Amino acid sequence: MAYLKKISFDSEIILFMSNIAILASGSGSNALKIIEHFKKSKIADVKLVVSNKKDAGVLNHARNNGVESLVFENNIWSDSPDLVVRALEERQIDFIVLAGFLRKIPDELIEKYPKAMVNIHPALLPKYGGKGMYGINVHNAVKANGEKQTGITIHWVTADYDEGEIIFQTSAEVSPDDDAASIQKKVQKLEHEYFAPVIESIMKKNA
Ligand code: GRF
Repeated sequence: MAYLKKISFDSEIILFMSNIAILASGSGSNALKIIEHFKKSKIADVKLVVSNKKDAGVLNHARNNGVESLVFENNIWSDSPDLVVRALEERQIDFIVLAGFLRKIPDELIEKYPKAMVNIHPALLPKYGGKGMYGINVHNAVKANGEKQTGITIHWVTADYDEGEIIFQTSAEVSPDDDAASIQKKVQKLEHEYFAPVIESIMKKNA
């Protein structure tokens, strides 16, 4: 799938902005960075934020930045995923970013967006992925195992949790003085620095 829509007109190439949707369940600090990054982009724009929680902090970031937001509560994701797919289609969404989205992604959605949906995981996959490995649990496990390094992984989304092909990883040192909270801070710093630029470069590469 090409994310960048372009037409040639005489010798000129006209680029149309692609539309990104962010799916998030939590505070949305990554979503905010991505929204801000793409305000300056010439290739894509964050058109929509979708959450499964009506009180998620990410919805405030959307509102404050003039981005449309939708809430589909948990039963919709499991019982009527076609409603989610339709909402994305109606808004001509080309690319989906999962930024702390804590629901299983319906197969219908994964099939609709092959190699057009990415997730960020707060560890160096394949370590510390899978069931229960989210939020502070990840960093507790990294600490408990005495790891010397942790980091972030940006990967394609497939039907299996955290198992899609890895696109990008970068790491941070874990020192003996670190606890789970300080490890989380280091990881979040990497997320905020790298996630948005990596998304943009993936989209450019697949144009
Ligand atoms: C991040 O740590 C991300 O790696 C994980 O969920 C968290 C979301 O944090 N998938 P925030 O809501 O963007 O602050």
